[in-house]
Amino acid sequence: MTTTTHEAEVAAAPREEGLMNLTLKIWRQNGPRDNGRLVTFKVKDISPDMSFLEMLDVLNEQLQAEGTEPIAFDSDCREGICGMCGLMISGEAHGPEKTTTCQLHMRSFKDGETITIEPWKADPFPVIKDLVVDRGSFDRIIQAGGFISANTGAAPKAEAILVPKENADRAFVAAECIGCGACVAACPNASGMLFMGAKITHLGELPQGQPERDARVVSMVNQHDAEGFGGCTNIGECSHACPKGIPQDVISTLNKDLRTALKRGR
Ligand code: SF4
Ligand code: FES
Repeated sequence: MTTTTHEAEVAAAPREEGLMNLTLKIWRQNGPRDNGRLVTFKVKDISPDMSFLEMLDVLNEQLQAEGTEPIAFDSDCREGICGMCGLMISGEAHGPEKTTTCQLHMRSFKDGETITIEPWKADPFPVIKDLVVDRGSFDRIIQAGGFISANTGAAPKAEAILVPKENADRAFVAAECIGCGACVAACPNASGMLFMGAKITHLGELPQGQPERDARVVSMVNQHDAEGFGGCTNIGECSHACPKGIPQDVISTLNKDLRTALKRGR
């Protein structure tokens, strides 16, 4: 791995208390075929109240001001709900707090610290540029079975289909998955089974998810394997890295559903 150094510094200004100077080692990769390398940048006077992405915005403004190409990274909602913003921060998916990268604040870091920032590194998530990866493999798993067939039109009355609270609660927990991919990035096998288990559990706990339950799990697992994700070996890094606290037992639900579907000859 080659490392180059580049300094992007703002003009000297009186320093407010609590502001931080940081060294950033950021992965730069000019497209999927480039080998990529870590490049060192320095940023000054970073407020602890900034989000991690705002800190990267500051760096990019500095780079643009001096005519250097800004760092490519993904984000959308910046509220922890869309799943676009995943980064590997000093070796941890989404960084040191159990939250999304966009909800991570600079108060989690210390003045003078060196932070390494890399994209998710997993074969099913090829790097498009710098910190941006293609997570289309997740979309194709959802297309394979992560849906229900339901008539469109006006929403049914809430009491029309009763759901026991225990099932509704478990479906709700699983439905919190935002498809960020941290579970895959943290897993030594690059397994997508926590993500897939969350979708299968979410739909499998509800009456609306029953008609396609067997076909769903078989199609999604086939697509998962075809995309090059690895199998689960119960290490648990996925659940540990998940910003939404998806429990590892959704993988047991996935495996149980798969066994049942295969026994029924799906
Ligand atoms: S299971 Fe968690 S880590 Fe994995 S994609 Fe869903 S929200 Fe992200
Ligand atoms: S930008 Fe949407 S979850 Fe981070």
